[in-house]
Amino acid sequence: MEETQKKQIVLSAVQPTGTPTLGNYLGAFKNWKMMANDMQEEYDCFYAVADLHSITVRLKPADLRRQTLEMYAFLLALGIDPEKNVVFIQSHVPEHAQLAWILNCHTQFGEASRMTQFKDKSEKHPENINVGLFSYPVLMAADILLYQADYVPVGDDQKQHLEITRDIAERFNGIYGDVFTVPKPFIHKAGARVMSLQDPTKKMSKSDTNVKGFISMLDDDSTIMKKVKSAVTDSEAKVYHGEGKDGINNLMEIYSCCTGKSFEEIEKEFDGKGYGDFKSAVGEAVIEELRPVKEEYLRLMGDKGYLMKCAAEGAEKAEYFARRTLRKTMKKVGFLQL
Ligand code: TRP
Repeated sequence: MEETQKKQIVLSAVQPTGTPTLGNYLGAFKNWKMMANDMQEEYDCFYAVADLHSITVRLKPADLRRQTLEMYAFLLALGIDPEKNVVFIQSHVPEHAQLAWILNCHTQFGEASRMTQFKDKSEKHPENINVGLFSYPVLMAADILLYQADYVPVGDDQKQHLEITRDIAERFNGIYGDVFTVPKPFIHKAGARVMSLQDPTKKMSKSDTNVKGFISMLDDDSTIMKKVKSAVTDSEAKVYHGEGKDGINNLMEIYSCCTGKSFEEIEKEFDGKGYGDFKSAVGEAVIEELRPVKEEYLRLMGDKGYLMKCAAEGAEKAEYFARRTLRKTMKKVGFLQL
């Protein structure tokens, strides 16, 4: 059968949230980069910039447009080859919204109400609790089920959304026969959890009002070094991983992630040395780690024509698969076929 010879399918998606931080990079994108290298021959990989998801929060149109292209460029800059993978922008493939409607009608109000992200976001934005925010996981289910994905790489915050996707798929298959592949989470090595350089008890975030708290993927070398050097530490002046040393723990995590060195190796390396030496080494390591991605990103952003051509080709390839699934789904549900 055709099915047994087919490569397995992996779908990854990310919202166009603006320039990623070092935290986003070490927490998730570095894994994507490694996966892209390891998997592109073995799996059929789809990468989507989930711009439809982004309008659940009010955004300026020009910002949405710019951020979408930036995130697309960033994916390519990570080394995701648009020839070997399907790299596309969600809104270019209208089937996402179409399938989402059908899935909405097969999702219970109660189960959607239990999504913790919905509860968190409604608390954070009480002025704009829109229906899109509520049905966001259903759109996500459509993203995944359209491509009959076997695996979806998800971080902790999206696990519950993958669960509801599985529930929706199983329910749907139960009613109409096998329509969707039921996706599994793709477990990869947990990414680093990078904390703010100014308040190492909080996650690094670009919405931090203190720009010294985070490193942007586009910061220049001297800015990176300055931010690392002004990172909050402690007065002990001894480099080791331990309780009450949030600042140093964070820098060690960053250093370890960039260099591949273990905490033990790092402790040995800086035995008898002060925080000044350690911070310089961390700064250098971060600069070296980000350099190739940043350079490629800037090069790509200078060639919008190429990016738009890749996006158009990606959309065309994605739509081929998406249309197939949507047709089958609509037929099963009983929509009159032309
Ligand atoms: N909601 C995801 C996030 O914010 C992004 C996303 C949209 C996604 N569609 C998806 C992730 C499909 C995995 C699969 O991170």
